[in-house]
Amino acid sequence: MSAIPSTAGVGMRRAPRSSFDLPPDVLYLDTAAHAPLLRDVRDAGADALARSNAPWLPDAGTWDDCIERVRALAAAWFDGNAHGVAFIPSVAYGIATAANNLRLQRGESVLVLDGQFPSNLLAWQQQCARSEATIVVACREPAQDWTGAVLVALERHPGIRIVALPQVHWHDGALLDLDTIAPRVRASGAALVLDLSQSLGVLPTDFARWQPDFVASVGYKWLLGTTGLGVLWVAPHWRKHGRAIEQHWSAREEDQVWRFDPVTPPAYRRGARRFDAGGILEPLRVAMLEAALEQLKAWGNATVLAHLRALTTVLDAELDASGLGSWNTPGHAPHFTGLRPPPAQFAAVAAALRAANIICTARYGALRIAPHLHVGEEDMRRCVAVMASALERAR
Ligand SMILES: Cc1ncc(COP(=O)(O)O)c(C=O)c1O
Repeated sequence: MSAIPSTAGVGMRRAPRSSFDLPPDVLYLDTAAHAPLLRDVRDAGADALARSNAPWLPDAGTWDDCIERVRALAAAWFDGNAHGVAFIPSVAYGIATAANNLRLQRGESVLVLDGQFPSNLLAWQQQCARSEATIVVACREPAQDWTGAVLVALERHPGIRIVALPQVHWHDGALLDLDTIAPRVRASGAALVLDLSQSLGVLPTDFARWQPDFVASVGYKWLLGTTGLGVLWVAPHWRKHGRAIEQHWSAREEDQVWRFDPVTPPAYRRGARRFDAGGILEPLRVAMLEAALEQLKAWGNATVLAHLRALTTVLDAELDASGLGSWNTPGHAPHFTGLRPPPAQFAAVAAALRAANIICTARYGALRIAPHLHVGEEDMRRCVAVMASALERAR
């Protein structure tokens, strides 16, 4: 594991690229799709795989200890309380858990963003269909940001009972101000459900202020972990009274579950563990997520955020200097942005990036530029130069 010296801090312009398992000729700018693989994460996975196929090897520690270590590491990204964290296979699973606990009556509604990621939409559509409730979609007026659109929707629709949002729009990095939105949601009496897949691992959270009910995130983007193992934070009320969507033995008290009492079910394990999904805690993924969270902790949140902010600041400036500033997403998050070339040149610009081995998501008219600590400022400049010359050629 590599620790970046704290003196590097905000002034740090290149993290050790060697922490990541990336070929030198590839510029990977797609963390919003899937994190670049850390060498420690790769090695932890390989080691766990070898061990799981060799039960005769000496035990490296109990399975439960490892799970609880990862729970505590994950909790640091929420309110610091490991009892509030459950493990889930996907955000869709976490949002289904939220929908299974939050009641909706006929005529009430759920608020989402226009174009919100389906894992934080489909469960609400299903629940609305079941309860004769409706989805309200926050849409932006020209020059309005998402925060403004959400506040207007809350004002206009007093029947909103659940507000289901991200902190950053997945498509182009547009930021929502949850410090402003969350107190308004609370004042309206609605529940707050967050999908932080595109921000957890970079942007700090403030749960004392936001007071969300359920918060889900994948582990394989900004948390630098692996697919198939994400986290669900649940508010104290739901840790005591929440209903899981499945009944798996691993979520029950170990000393009771093997009594096979046919009448009285074993008690749930403490806190959010009642929501741990069955089968999710297999050693490979748990070991990989642990290595990722340990590396993030060693780097420190402030260092990661400062480095990514410095990169997107250079990107913004370079786009402006090259006359491409209008492509950029106004109010984008400090860690990624979406660029919208003119539709006639979109394919040519995307193809030029690909030809230069610059990897990013090119979808629905936007190029999503999402670096991590393996990227330096000169990489951002090169990326803009490639796009600018592709535009020249395509005109
Ligand atoms: C905002 C957001 N939420 C969730 C996911 C993944 O959801 P799931 O784990 O249900 O596949 C993604 C993947 O791109 C995403 O961008």
